[in-house]
Amino acid sequence: MSPLLEAVDLHRHYSVRTGGGLFAGKAVLRAVDGVSFRIRAGQTLGLVGESGCGKSTTGKLALGLIPPSSGEMRYDGERMPAAGSPAWRALRRRLQMVYQDPLGALDRRLPIGTQIAEPLVIHGIGAVSERRDRALSIMESVGLQRHQFGRYPHELSGGQRQRVVLARALITEPRLLVCDEPISALDVSIQAQVVNLLLDLQERLGIAYLFISHDLRIVRQVSHDVAVMYLGRIVERGDAENVFARPAHPYTRALVSAIPTVGDKRERILLGGDPPSPANVPPGCSFHTRCPFATAQCRSEIPTLQPQDDGREVACHRVRETALRLVA
Ligand SMILES: Nc1ncnc2c1ncn2[C@@H]1O[C@H](COP(=O)(O)OP(=O)(O)OP(=O)(O)O)[C@@H](O)[C@H]1O
Ligand SMILES: [Mg+2]
Repeated sequence: MSPLLEAVDLHRHYSVRTGGGLFAGKAVLRAVDGVSFRIRAGQTLGLVGESGCGKSTTGKLALGLIPPSSGEMRYDGERMPAAGSPAWRALRRRLQMVYQDPLGALDRRLPIGTQIAEPLVIHGIGAVSERRDRALSIMESVGLQRHQFGRYPHELSGGQRQRVVLARALITEPRLLVCDEPISALDVSIQAQVVNLLLDLQERLGIAYLFISHDLRIVRQVSHDVAVMYLGRIVERGDAENVFARPAHPYTRALVSAIPTVGDKRERILLGGDPPSPANVPPGCSFHTRCPFATAQCRSEIPTLQPQDDGREVACHRVRETALRLVA
């Protein structure tokens, strides 16, 4: 069975200006640089990595909102149609996005019920009364009250607003939601509610998620699989529980060891400084400038994702030696 969504060697490069005045020049910024993944129906792929590593760009590529510079997105085994084409617009019903900032995603001047029903208008689904009924029923399923239909966004709490955003994404019966930091802007006490709602919706409706977040604890909680990105590339991917319990790539180990209650207490890999710029990616393994295990090979040869005994894939020349050190 083909996966619901498949990314095949996606690249997204931007031409950017560097320097200024006499030193002005152009560089290629590699926002996404050879990313492949699969998401099965009803499953969640978590995407993690530091700020600027290409997570949101990957999310936009996944929805076909931006075209790849090279590589291919496939939905249900078929190449994603070009953004804006009639075929793509028809597909967009099934692929929706939930952003970080619910207030920014909503129109302050319109009642929430109207906004929840709006995608039905855009896609020409149902008559006016049917749209209203669908909006009311989807409001209930995300835990909003029917009488809130006429309320405005500013009259709701942060958690309720994110429920409105979710209801609007769900009303077209999508098969996949790209959730880009869906809970980062919410109060910690509300985060758990929204996470539980996402899990519950997945169980009831069989929706797949591409779940992008800085918060590794939440990614671990919601994801079946996880992909760890560094400077536009995936450096480790596999079963989420396995990757978080026994991270193999030195970068994943650094990320995991930074989580107070999750990291392996036997080791701490501290990440010094910021990642290099994606407009100036180091040669070889792009992580070598921050990796405590780097050798001459790491400085010259780009490692590719290699399958490991437990089914995960890791892009690291030294994974065998350093993983042995970990269990010793
Ligand atoms: N339209 C664009 N033009 C030029 N550079 C871009 C563009 N969009 C993104 N980038 C660059 O691509 C890189 C990846 O950006 P992206 O937004 O995907 O990162 P991210 O992992 O989502 O980061 P964050 O965690 O901060 O949201 C960044 O260096 C960003 O500046
Ligand atoms: Mg982002």
